[in-house]
Order: sequence, then C-alpha cells, then structure tokens
Amino acid sequence: MSREVDIKRMVELAEQLEYHSHKYYVENSPEISDFEFDRLLRELQDLEDKYPDMASPNSPTKRVGSDLTAEFDSVEHRIPMQSLSNTYSPDELGEWIDRIIREIGEVEFVCELKFDGTAISLTYENGELLQAITRGDGRRGDDVTNNVRTIRTLPLRLRGEGYPQLFEIRGEIFMPYASFDRLNAEREAVGEPLLANPRNAAAGTLKQQSSQVVAHRGLDCTLYHLAGDGVEFKTHWESLEAARGWGFRVSEHARICRTREEVEAYIAYWDVERKALPYATDGVVIKVNRYADQRTLGSTAKAPRWAVAYKFQAERALTKLLSVDFQVGRTGAITPVANLEPVQLAGTIVKRASIHNADQIALLDIRLGDMVYVEKGGEIIPKITGVELSARDEYSRPFEYITRCPECGAELVRYEGEAKHYCPNASGCKPQIIGRIEHFVKRKAMDIEGLGGETIELLWENGMLRDISDVYRLDPMLLASLPRLGEKSAANIIEGVRRSLAVPFERVLFALGIRFVGETTAKYLATHFRTLDAIAAATAEELAEAEEIGSKIADSIIAYFADEQNVRIIERLRESGLRFEVEDKVKTSNALEGKSIVISGKFVGRSRDDMKALVEEHGGKNLAAVSANVDFVVAGDNMGPAKRQKAEKLGVKILSEAEFMELINGAERVTQPAEPLSRTEVESAPIQGTLF
Ligand code: IVH
Repeated sequence: MSREVDIKRMVELAEQLEYHSHKYYVENSPEISDFEFDRLLRELQDLEDKYPDMASPNSPTKRVGSDLTAEFDSVEHRIPMQSLSNTYSPDELGEWIDRIIREIGEVEFVCELKFDGTAISLTYENGELLQAITRGDGRRGDDVTNNVRTIRTLPLRLRGEGYPQLFEIRGEIFMPYASFDRLNAEREAVGEPLLANPRNAAAGTLKQQSSQVVAHRGLDCTLYHLAGDGVEFKTHWESLEAARGWGFRVSEHARICRTREEVEAYIAYWDVERKALPYATDGVVIKVNRYADQRTLGSTAKAPRWAVAYKFQAERALTKLLSVDFQVGRTGAITPVANLEPVQLAGTIVKRASIHNADQIALLDIRLGDMVYVEKGGEIIPKITGVELSARDEYSRPFEYITRCPECGAELVRYEGEAKHYCPNASGCKPQIIGRIEHFVKRKAMDIEGLGGETIELLWENGMLRDISDVYRLDPMLLASLPRLGEKSAANIIEGVRRSLAVPFERVLFALGIRFVGETTAKYLATHFRTLDAIAAATAEELAEAEEIGSKIADSIIAYFADEQNVRIIERLRESGLRFEVEDKVKTSNALEGKSIVISGKFVGRSRDDMKALVEEHGGKNLAAVSANVDFVVAGDNMGPAKRQKAEKLGVKILSEAEFMELINGAERVTQPAEPLSRTEVESAPIQGTLF
C-alpha cells in the first residue's frame, strides 16, 4: 500500500478513536465493542510503527503511556493560578453573598461541586493539547503533559468549533473511588504502604516518572474554569457549556442560583447527595456568573473576590469501641488501633480507627465499651475524636494501657519526649525484624524485587532470614524447595539480590534503617562523610556538621553504631560486597567547566540520564529549567515547544546531540580515568561468602 493511503488511514483512525473514546468515557454510551476499539487502536499503532515520523504526540495510542522516564520541567503559568478563599461557616458564606448582592445588585451565581483532587491548567493550541501544568506555587508549576495525556476523559484534540486559537482551561485531576480502592488493594497485596486518600493518590500519580504507571491508575479530570485573552463569552456558564461541546468533561451538577436561599439549598442538597458520587468532593464553589460582574469585583493578591469555596464539615459517626489491638512497627513503636462496631461513614463501612498513643487514650478518657465519635478527615483510617459520656456504662473503668509487648512479651519502655511506647527487643521481636527486612529491600532502598512481606515472613519462619545480612546468604536450592516459592521465584529473588550490590552508598545507608535517617538524611550524610566508617567514627558534634543533622538524628546514629549486633550485621554486609562508600564521578575533561546546561528531549545515542552524566563528567552543571543563567540547551527529539520558545526568546544557544558530542569529544582529557566497572561486570561479580 502506498504511504499516502496509509497516512490517510492514520488520520481516519485517529478521528474514529477520538470519537469512540468520547462516547465511551465521557458520554458513557459506547457505539462499538471494546474488542472493535482495540482492533482500531492496534491498526493505528502498527501504522505509527511503520511511519514513526507521522505519529502525532496527541495520537490516541499515547493514552496508554510510555515507559520513558519523565522528568518535570518547571514552567511559568501564562496566567497565574489563584486559589480560592474558603470558609466552613454558613454565616460567613451568607455575609459574602449579601455583600456581593449589595455591590452588584441583581446577580447570578454558579454553584459547583468542589472536587477533591489536584488542580491542573491545560493549554490548547489550534484545538490540540499543548501543555498540562500543575498548580505548583501558583506562578510556576510542573509540566506533566505526558502523564496527563493518559487520562482518557481528556480530549487530546477538540471537537466542534469556536474554540480560541490559544487558550487555557483549568480543572481538577482526581482519582475516582473505584480506581483508588483497586490501587490500594494492589498495594496491599505486595506489601506497599497504602495511599491515604484519593486526593494524595491523584497528586502522587501525576508526579509518577512513568506515564505507563499513570495510565494504569485510572485518573479522571473535570474542567471548571476557562482562561485567556481569546475567550469571548459573556458568562462563566456559557464558557462551561462551550467547553462541554469541545469534548471536555464538565460537571453536570453545576446550577445557576440567584439568591442566598438558593445557594444554601444547593449546599444542603449536596452535603447529603455527594456521598453517592463515585468521587470525592469536599465542598461547593460559588462563582459570580457574569464576567462583567467578575471584573467589577476584581481580585486580591491571593484569590478572586468573585468566588468562594464553602467546605463541608468532616463527617462524624457514633459507634461502640469493642477492643483495642496493639501493632508493633519496625522501630518497635506501639500503635493502638481500635476495633469498632461497624458503622457507615462517608461512603464506607468503618471497623477500625487509630488512636495514636496512650496519652490520647488518657486525654479523651476512652474506655472499652464506650460510644465513641469517629471522624474521617480525608484519611483512609478514621480517628476517634471523642466519647459520648452520656452513653457510658456506669461500671466502666479507665483503660489500662499494656506494659508488655503483645508480640514478644518484652517490657515496654517510653523514651523522653516521645508519646509512644516502644518494645526494646529489637533483635528478638518478630514484627520488628520483618519490618526492618521489608524496609531494607524496598524500592527506594536496596530495591530487591520478589521479596515481599509474605515471602520474608516465610523465610523467617524457616530460619533462613534472621536479619538483613542473611539476604545475601540465601541458598537458591533451599529457597526453591520452600512451599509457595518454586524455582522461578527463587531465581528472581537471587537475581534481585545480586543486582542490589550495585545500589549506591546513600541508598544502602537509608536501607540500614537507622532511626530518623530517611532518604534525604542518608543523602546528606553520604555527601558529607563519604564512607560508612567515617559516619560510624563521628562524634555527635561532627555528625551535626552535616547538613540537616540535629542532635536527635546524631544521637540515634551513635546509638545504632554502639550496638554490637548492628556492627556485626554491617561486617557481614561488607563481606557480601555492598557499597559502603560514595563512588567518585570520573571527571574526563574541563570542556564544560563553569557552564550551566539544560538537557531536554529524547536522544538517539544515549538516554537523558547518560547525557546528564556526560555533562558532569566534563565539569558542567545540569539545570532543569531554561532561564537567563543557562549557557546552552542540548535539544533531542521532541523537546517541548514551550522550552524551545523560551530559549529562543532569551537568546540561549540550542545545540543538537551531535554538536554537543563534538564539543566534548574534541576536549582534552584532564586525567586518564580508571575504567569504571561496567554494568555487566557489576552484575556478574561474585557475591562473597554466599552459597551461590
Ligand atoms: S475555581 C480562579 N472550581 O479548589 C478560580 N476550583 O480551594 C479557580 N477546586 O485551586 C478555581 N473544584 O484546585 C474551582 N469547581 C471548582 C473546583 C475548584 C475544586 C479546587 C481547585 C482550587 C481549589 C481552591
């Protein structure tokens, strides 16, 4: 078939797929089967593979995401994103309405639901999605266009007509309850921490590096504000109607209200009905409808005067406290968890609630059998906020807090300045040991795949894992012989363990699980001291010289290395070949000395990270955003148009990949670097002292 015919077909397929996506995702009335849809999509994908130069960045095939890692450029909003003034008080809202009516006279309000997600600003040019930027600080946000493209209800190309050539439309990206519940079920199954609420889940998802992950998570987007010079409507309402016609998802629950009573009725209705919605809302937004009136009212520095958010009260339910469980964490901290008589609260049935600590129990005088108030403040686990004393049994007694560890029986201790009780039996208490190993293998630490919570427990029960150093002494034969594991999983674990030897020192330091040494602290310590031995030998004063290290962290580090058991574990890890020192970056030349460089786009010969590594190797500094301080930009394929424009405007030089390579290859070498260990060598390096 000729190229011309194929390309015509590509355009046709893209149009059909956009049409059917809208029918399916926005209108909920599909005209073709999923099977047929997938067939069309595959046909388009095949053609795009054949003619990659003709594949549009807004093609429907891009909805499934790519696994290229994204990094987010910080970009300036063309029009700053203001926030809204908000109130929980019906009286305050009433006064606001009265004031507007006094000032404007006959006025129209548009009442809308306040979606509980994360704000987004979308720019469309000639009907195509150009850019999606998060709110950020209101002036600058992150460019998350590739991730936003995966949201199925969002048009990549607009329908209908009459849209301005260039405009911005703002709205909320949110995670419907169904996606949120599915995601948390998946995370629970692999032992990952649960996401607190749909709002955090949406914001976190949007910042994922891989748009494939984003595509999988099922975000949604609703639009509620049109902005820009080309917008020629007279009212907000008209603009919403028009946006709907262009293919955007615009809430069907907005209403025009003319009086305080009508607004109040809208709020009263949705305070109840919102519980049946498939997504989270946390209030109602009231906006003055006519743009002329909006202009009259104007804005303060922070928020418009023509709009206000009324927030719903957190929901509360009354139920009986049946019993209290005590959970033991990785650090030995004891957390009391209440078991409740199941009760309906904000759309879910609540059976458990957190109580934080012994002080909280004493403060609220919570007793077994009490009727207690539980509140959901947007978190998954609700909390107990009070006791209904009038319903208390006359024979009830104050709660007696436990004195021994519910897991190992050790006597609990309390540390100065800490509200929690602790089990001090770090090396003999099962949940602490397992928790530490779980922490050690997790993605941001040693990143050992295949070793989930259940497997760790299984290995512990079979005497194969007593502490983190045993991870490097696992016997593949023994592993494979365990029930529920088998050869394939065993091989996976062994491979994961082997790979983890290449993990850099700062992450090894984090993985050790020293109290208060989180990811960032570990980085600061590694940069400052460079070796584990130096950290172990440092005094409290010396430790405090490193950035962000206060006396609490310093004391904890000293206590960690004073424990003989920890010293023994570290020696065993050292024998196994883990990295206990910062690797020096090999400096190849001074070609880029003093230069600030932005690497942007996709490159032919190497990954973006490799390009950045080259910049550093040649003495240059990597910057994320184009500004007047940048010496030059190295542009790969598909460098963002906004970035290119900005560079051109500021007169910043743009180099191609080839020009950049020429620049550094022509440079004189400062030192003859020792050949760094290649990745394959690292992977096949023998693990000392192990059985394999
Ligand atoms: S209008 C200038 N409408 O609430 C007006 N905001 O607390 C821009 N939000 O930052 C905002 N639902 O993220 C508007 N129907 C709605 C909304 C809404 C949720 C969010 C938005 C905003 C925040 C302010």
